[in-house]
Amino acid sequence: MKLWAGRFSKEAAKTTNDFNSSIAVDSRMFREDIQGSLAHAAMLARQGIISEADGEAIRKGLLAILEELESGALPIDPDAEDIHTFIEATLTERIGDAGKRLHTGRSRNDQVATDIRLYLRGQCEALRAAIAALQKALADKAAEYSDAILPGYTHLQRAQPILFSAHLLAYQEMFARDCARLSDAARRMNQCPLGSGALAGTGYPIDRANTALALGFEGVTANTIDGVSDRDFCLELCSAISILMVHLSRLSEELVLWCSWEFRFVELDDAYTTGSSIMPQKKNPDLAELIRGKSGRVFGDLMGLLTVMKGLPLAYNKDMQEDKEAVFDAFDTARLCLGAAVPMVATMRALPENMRRAAAEGFINATDCADYLVGKGLPFRDAYQVVGALVARCIAGGFTLETLPLGQYQEVSQLFSEDVYDFVTLEACVERRQK
Ligand code: ARG
Repeated sequence: MKLWAGRFSKEAAKTTNDFNSSIAVDSRMFREDIQGSLAHAAMLARQGIISEADGEAIRKGLLAILEELESGALPIDPDAEDIHTFIEATLTERIGDAGKRLHTGRSRNDQVATDIRLYLRGQCEALRAAIAALQKALADKAAEYSDAILPGYTHLQRAQPILFSAHLLAYQEMFARDCARLSDAARRMNQCPLGSGALAGTGYPIDRANTALALGFEGVTANTIDGVSDRDFCLELCSAISILMVHLSRLSEELVLWCSWEFRFVELDDAYTTGSSIMPQKKNPDLAELIRGKSGRVFGDLMGLLTVMKGLPLAYNKDMQEDKEAVFDAFDTARLCLGAAVPMVATMRALPENMRRAAAEGFINATDCADYLVGKGLPFRDAYQVVGALVARCIAGGFTLETLPLGQYQEVSQLFSEDVYDFVTLEACVERRQK
């Protein structure tokens, strides 16, 4: 029987029930739903809104349901409307009237708003831990190849020599910001909407501060209408995760490039690559490509949720039931991608000889050569012109700045002497900028 059967003259159609139900998506919040109900019932009893005996019956009943849901002994009814309804109905089936008193001074609107926040709080922590594991894999890889030099690129054209470790540690910074963004959003989300009721609060003498404290919230939401209609935290989290996926996608793209025969800067481990059904020579970076591809799906979660929310009048609307699928998928996808990225990065082999060879071509020490002349007193703009002419000579004569004879250097500028060769080695270039 439906919660609202009294008002209706017939049963809902099966299609209505199927369409309306969110249990397939929200059953994963069963722990948080029970946690919220335990705090609510304890507060109701303490405030004398329900009897101590009812409070105790509810507590025992909910704990038993929790245990059975954890163990799988209690199967979740796929026809239930949502996890909140399922747990309350199961409780009432077992303990009778006391179960029917649990919902006093509460609505599913403030209940679900509380549950999602509790659930996402845990998800944020787990995601931060997964990001930290990737940061560690990157830092370990950077330490393993601490003196490897590769060309740094701008416009994907060789620009200046850099350390492989510095390149990897750039990602470290991005992931640190991702963690900070998640923490920041989680902190803002950590206000308890319980007590908002359906939208207008409740007339019962509830103690909102008490339930908020019991559930580990920092405080209570200030406005009951906002309390049930706010999904900013879902949007913020989808947005933070989208940015995380941008970073994972950029890292993946570099790995795809780096393990191509054209670059050959890294080799991915056989265990984290795949072959081809037809081309025997192939070793494909499928994991990196899939991570890059899955970023699109997370951006879709964010766009979908923004679109769901943008036209909703206050307060709760059923459209908002779509929030969970989006935000859960964003978390799931990011965790999945990090789980694939960590061992892929941890086991990849760098090929420093190839990096070095690429760095030795393309005149990536030209800026340093200009700096050499600046050191001899030439203004930078003039030095830049001189080195441009040198590079043209090198290209015409098949030289690099390391191999161009000193006579040719001096034909372009008398400021050059023998020490220019030491000044433009890749090591000297990298070393000079590490201060
Ligand atoms: N399953 C619903 C959701 O996820 C719970 C809230 C239902 N509230 C209501 N007034 N129908 O949003």
